[in-house]
Amino acid sequence: MSNDILKKIRAYFQMEKECGIHEYLLSPKKKDDLSLIKEEVTSCRMCGLSKMRKNVVFGTGNTKARLMFIGEAPGYEEDIQGRPFVGRAGELLTRIIEAMGLKREDVYISNILKCRPPQNRNPLPDEISHCIKYLYGQIDYIKPQVICGLGKFAAQILLETETPITRLRGEWHKCRGIRFMPTYHPAYLLRNPGAKKLVWQDMKKIMKELG
Ligand code: URA
Ligand code: URA
Repeated sequence: MSNDILKKIRAYFQMEKECGIHEYLLSPKKKDDLSLIKEEVTSCRMCGLSKMRKNVVFGTGNTKARLMFIGEAPGYEEDIQGRPFVGRAGELLTRIIEAMGLKREDVYISNILKCRPPQNRNPLPDEISHCIKYLYGQIDYIKPQVICGLGKFAAQILLETETPITRLRGEWHKCRGIRFMPTYHPAYLLRNPGAKKLVWQDMKKIMKELG
């Protein structure tokens, strides 16, 4: 994602804040129940992606997970199956989770966007601003001990920063009061296998934190 898009997203959020628009916060009732949030996303028509989706990709896994992974947006395979990280990048993520001594069912996996952008293009500020409240609802409901942000996009959006992922990764941050570890995206690792050892270092920090 170019810094240009990030700047646009931040400017958009800034203007909404200044105008007192807080509609991206879910009602307290919604926050109490993940299935209510899922229902809302499933019928969401807030942006154009809803017209093109085959399925909403809400998130899967243990709703009491101590560890949550957050990616960018569904791709082709995810859109067809309605589940996150089930394509090639997903296979690698699954292997990483298993190497940590966990199963996919132990953790919770979701994305910033719940619908697939056409041709996997970068999410637009308008799409993020409508969709992020669902993720915040998921985080607040699950209250994991640790969140792992996968890739530049998830890290920069959730930490509200333009700092490059190369500098963000491997260090502990906070997101909605929760320990947040950014690392490289598994799709990036498929193109740059040499970066796997850095991601594995980051996963070891998470394993240590989880005990
Ligand atoms: N990439 C993502 O960021 N999320 C998915 O669910 C799949 C691929
Ligand atoms: N660039 C990205 O967009 N994501 C990564 O994970 C690493 C580099």
